[in-house]
Amino acid sequence: MAERSAAGRSLAAADGHGAEDGVPAVTARLAVPGAAQMRLLGNRLAGLLRAGDLVVLAGSLGAGKTTLVQGLGEGMAVRGPVTSPTFVIARVHPSLRGGPDLVHADAYRLGSRLEVDDLDLDADLDHSVTVVEWGEGMVENLAPGYLRVTIDRPAPGPGIAQAAAGDQWNAPGDQQKGTGDQVRFVTVTGYGNRWDAAAGQLRSVLAEPLR
Ligand SMILES: Nc1ncnc2c1ncn2[C@@H]1O[C@H](COP(=O)(O)OP(=O)(O)OP(=O)(O)O)[C@@H](O)[C@H]1O
Ligand SMILES: [Mg+2]
Repeated sequence: MAERSAAGRSLAAADGHGAEDGVPAVTARLAVPGAAQMRLLGNRLAGLLRAGDLVVLAGSLGAGKTTLVQGLGEGMAVRGPVTSPTFVIARVHPSLRGGPDLVHADAYRLGSRLEVDDLDLDADLDHSVTVVEWGEGMVENLAPGYLRVTIDRPAPGPGIAQAAAGDQWNAPGDQQKGTGDQVRFVTVTGYGNRWDAAAGQLRSVLAEPLR
């Protein structure tokens, strides 16, 4: 049985099923050439998010998950700074304009879906936007639909130059020299009725060039 937080339900909501087995409402893959563009993508996605939404972030260490959340936080106008929740599992960033709060969680240290039951937040997820780094396969059952963002960080090699060029971006070594920026490939997939209904909006946000 899931613990309940003072303000409502915990991250361990066991009621209802997630949409993880469903057919995605929309999916798109885009090349993101640097950290600034990753923040811009987050900022734009924030414009679509509303209370009760769940965003599941996947990608290896240093892929750019927190960088994307920084953009989400900026777009949602929440109190920052958004940083990796290293010593806490989740942090609540209150809205500065009366919108939903941003709950930023990191499931890296949680071994299994069951352990998510231990996570108890002083936040009502129905009134917040919840974003979980390393949340894939762990938290999808928290909401009837969710947005999954997978960030791939390609290994250096000639293949990247080609792949990036195909997406109209230069090879990592050729762009924004000295900033440490490297291309990432981001796949955004919306599941459930929530994203069925917003598929058109999501598609148009993802189609906008990141510059
Ligand atoms: N295209 C890019 N998109 C995002 N970040 C990038 C990009 N290119 C370079 N970076 C850099 O990569 C790093 C990404 O770090 P970040 O903390 O966002 O990753 P993370 O996926 O949250 O890592 P962790 O798994 O440790 O939580 C930052 O230093 C950022 O500046
Ligand atoms: Mg992180």
